[in-house]
Amino acid sequence: MEVWQTTDDLLRMNRFREQGPLVLVPTMGALHEGHLSLVRCGAEIGPVVVSIFVNPTQFGPNEDYGSYPRTMAKDLDLLKALPVAGVFAPDVGEIYGEGLETSVRPGHRAQGLCGGDRPDHFAGVLTVVAKLFGLVRPDVAIFGRKDAQQCLVISQMVEDLKMPIKLVDAPTLREKDGLALSSRNRYLSDSQRQQALCLFQALTEGRLLLEQGCRKRSVVLAAMEAWLQKADSIDYADVRQVPDLGRSEDIFGKTLLAVAARVGPARLIDNLVLQVDDKQVSDSYLLGTERKS
Ligand code: PAF
Repeated sequence: MEVWQTTDDLLRMNRFREQGPLVLVPTMGALHEGHLSLVRCGAEIGPVVVSIFVNPTQFGPNEDYGSYPRTMAKDLDLLKALPVAGVFAPDVGEIYGEGLETSVRPGHRAQGLCGGDRPDHFAGVLTVVAKLFGLVRPDVAIFGRKDAQQCLVISQMVEDLKMPIKLVDAPTLREKDGLALSSRNRYLSDSQRQQALCLFQALTEGRLLLEQGCRKRSVVLAAMEAWLQKADSIDYADVRQVPDLGRSEDIFGKTLLAVAARVGPARLIDNLVLQVDDKQVSDSYLLGTERKS
């Protein structure tokens, strides 16, 4: 497995293009099993490049950019055990060295949810993802479904800017008790980890109501919010349509149940993507068609 730090180093990546569609798995490091599952999913498609870059422009002024876990040596050890062609690990100067006059402005999907009280977050995400796409020039890019809004905002960029890249959203990995894997779980004490289960419980309750036949957004939302009270504070609970992230009182079709809350020092998010039909509710996915969830 090679490690590339500069854009010049990336010339060494080009030989992998002959081996099949080049797959990019963009990450901010602090890798866990969830990231590794994205890599495994990518390796079924073609040679995989993982990027590791803690992107300053997507953090708000009071967020955890300074303390975000940077565990490069451990990350590289984890990736060495997998079929990874190379890791692109630039420093901030390499990506933003000449300053930033041009950036990508997200469309309406960035409003509310994780974009609600973080006005520059998705512009930061899109700008760095566009830079990574320009540098690595992947055929396919894989993102975690846990960041559902991020997946949909990026997919809008790819569509609007006609980027020739196929996007895949890979399923969320969970602990046995349902807690979604996240780099920020390491901030939690044992008791906060127990408290954090309320995010999954809120989603499970929402799903249960849908399975019992309820199709009213206000009812599902109220039940989700009730569970979230166990968190230290609630960022949001929401029920949105996929892919446009619109709201409708009648729930039908591809639907996102999404929650974000603060527990101790961590801001945690989680979601379920469901196909809601007249009589049936099943797991679904965010991007593309004709594949298993
Ligand atoms: O999901 C993440 O880890 C980041 O938002 C991403 C996509 C790597 C961009 O910095």
